Amino acid sequence: MGSSLSRQDFIAQQTALCTQLNLKLPTEAALELAWQNYQSLVAQLGTRQSLALCEFINSALYHPQCGYYTSGELPFGPSGDFITAPETSPLFAAAIADYITPQLTALDGQLVELGAGTGALAVSLWQQLSGLKDYWIVETSALLRNVQRQQLAAAGVDLQHCHWVTTANELPPRAFIIGNEVLDAIPAYQARCDQGQWLERRVILDQGNWQLDWLPAQTPALREWLANHQDKLPNIEGYIVEAAPLRSDFCRDWLDGFEQAVVLFLDYGFDAGEFFAESRHQGSLRCYYQHQCHEKLTLLPGLQDITSHVNFSELCGDLENQGWQLSGFCSQRDLILNSSAINDFSLSDDLIERAQQSQALQILMMPGEMGDRVKAIAFTLQFSENAEAIIPTNLVTRL
Ligand SMILES: C[S@@+](CC[C@H](N)C(=O)[O-])C[C@H]1O[C@@H](n2cnc3c(N)ncnc32)[C@H](O)[C@@H]1O
Repeated sequence: MGSSLSRQDFIAQQTALCTQLNLKLPTEAALELAWQNYQSLVAQLGTRQSLALCEFINSALYHPQCGYYTSGELPFGPSGDFITAPETSPLFAAAIADYITPQLTALDGQLVELGAGTGALAVSLWQQLSGLKDYWIVETSALLRNVQRQQLAAAGVDLQHCHWVTTANELPPRAFIIGNEVLDAIPAYQARCDQGQWLERRVILDQGNWQLDWLPAQTPALREWLANHQDKLPNIEGYIVEAAPLRSDFCRDWLDGFEQAVVLFLDYGFDAGEFFAESRHQGSLRCYYQHQCHEKLTLLPGLQDITSHVNFSELCGDLENQGWQLSGFCSQRDLILNSSAINDFSLSDDLIERAQQSQALQILMMPGEMGDRVKAIAFTLQFSENAEAIIPTNLVTRL
């Protein structure tokens, strides 16, 4: 244990680590944000021995002044750290619009987006859904709320019909709800099997450096999760798993008050069989910095994305407990291929544009890319008159 680093030492240390990992060096301004984030983590630790991993990730991603999603450069797109489906190709939003259209009239033309990023999907859906009356956005980052407002205004959307909400009771009673890559951005804990016991990954400050350590599980939410998943956890020495009770809380917070609704989530993730597979013994928690994936969680706090895969079987259990009915589970590739958008999509005559479009389609649909790594899952609430599943059901039996 020890005191925190000076600004100069922190910057020298982070720069050396980037060089060692072959990562592009951050700008001065970005390093300043990382320094602020480092200091705020030190303040959060206070006199405690360690921070829960979830606390560390939450501060790194969402600290209001110096978090990854809340300050500095936008993380999305080719010049950022990762690219999401709405930013990849217009085919994605066209496919989503195709699934929303038949449900929208019954749901009063109300659409809710959970975690809207740059607003790319919001803009495309406004342009494609003729029955859309109001667009409701749940977004934790003030920076991104502004970006979304600007993008929607620039696309000519009447902002009187766009609403940013901070509590669930502001949402309309009937709505179609969409969340693309929001659940994997909600922080998780990690646990490791050690001689039949489960240890918790915690973050300690060792001579000013954040270090990860495995300590006896002490966070109540993690201990509860471990107890609830006891029958599924592989008893294999060294097996690592992510627990994300905050995702269950998020669903309870935002999906509880509707009278009639459909929700569609898309995310990187697995069914429980794959999630707890013995072969997946290293977990899925990863960092993304400048499109490079690595596992140095404590590097550049506030400058890199930290994400982990969703357990769709757990999500399904959570939503069914809240009264929702499963209405389809499939890969992103099948979601797109089963939409009419694929027939209407045409490639450009310009060779360069055509090559770029083809590359984007590969990212969206190929196995090994988003095609099968991202899954779509839909649920309905009080929607029994609609007997058809909302999206394809190919993977439902695996949940
Ligand atoms: C990986 S980005 C995906 C953005 C967008 N859906 C897309 O596909 O481009 C995650 C988004 O979820 C937001 N987010 C994360 N946690 C949230 C929470 N608890 N409540 C609301 N928004 C959240 C982030 O700020 C960000 O906009």
